[in-house]
Amino acid sequence: MKVMNPTSTCYYPSMRIAHLSDLHLFPEGALWTSGMFNRRLLGAFNLVLVRNGVHSIDVARAAVREVVEQKVDHTVITGDLTNLALESEFRLASEVLAPLGGYERLTIVPGNHDYYAPVAVHAGAFERWFGPTLWGKDGKSGEWPVVKDQGDIVLVAVRTAMIPPVTRAWGLVGKDQLLKIRRVIDEARGQGKDTLVFMHHNLHHRGFVQEKLGRLVDKSEAAEMLADAGATLVLHGHDHREHEMVLTGERGEGAGTLVVGCGSTTTGLSGRGRPGRFNIYTIEDGNVGIERWRYLASQKRFLPLAE
Ligand SMILES: [Fe+2]
Ligand SMILES: [Fe+2]
Repeated sequence: MKVMNPTSTCYYPSMRIAHLSDLHLFPEGALWTSGMFNRRLLGAFNLVLVRNGVHSIDVARAAVREVVEQKVDHTVITGDLTNLALESEFRLASEVLAPLGGYERLTIVPGNHDYYAPVAVHAGAFERWFGPTLWGKDGKSGEWPVVKDQGDIVLVAVRTAMIPPVTRAWGLVGKDQLLKIRRVIDEARGQGKDTLVFMHHNLHHRGFVQEKLGRLVDKSEAAEMLADAGATLVLHGHDHREHEMVLTGERGEGAGTLVVGCGSTTTGLSGRGRPGRFNIYTIEDGNVGIERWRYLASQKRFLPLAE
């Protein structure tokens, strides 16, 4: 697989796709709203003690502004829009992301934080707010994976978020989705189309503690299937640092499946720590080009990395 540098290579891509992730938006005052108990209370402590001020609504708005300006064909968000799956967090995320459009231009998969509280999952909170980006206007189908045929590229949205044991952030693709994803990729390949698969949880190893607490339970099966089937590009979130790797499958043709985590989009407001980030991919005939955008606190905006 050829990774091109769009800043120095002049060509006309068939499709440009923006990738944002792990926004963790939190409206002021939400901590004191009702409904926080058990799992949410643990999360609230984590949020206040560890994450306070790390993720910024202003940086999220700056990312959305830039993506709109870039006139991409589609935007993919790989989960963790919220922290505690509170209604007020979903409302804020919905308002911040509104300029990106609906079903035709935007697809969002849930992260473990969007399924944080069992009561919110059972009530279908994420699906109520963002189902229309997955299943169209009525947002009712509820079937996974979600497949959007974009002509030369097929988008495959996968749900890995689940209700894990308390203090765990595990994810699962599951046998049913694995089978269906394989079928979609095989069919697309047969038609000469590229496939872009995206999910919240990462496929790489993040270290002992992170794997113990927040791994994709069927990571090996998922990675093997995606590589064997020959997915063109796999996008994920969950790891707030960016990560890239190439998986090579049994067919051994081409240069493999490129797997990219863009990192968290909403960090770095103060200029300290990691700057917020998002990527824009160009995909054409199996080739993937990556533009890496970073938040520049001094200019209060995102700029592309020169490479
Ligand atoms: Fe996250
Ligand atoms: Fe996550």
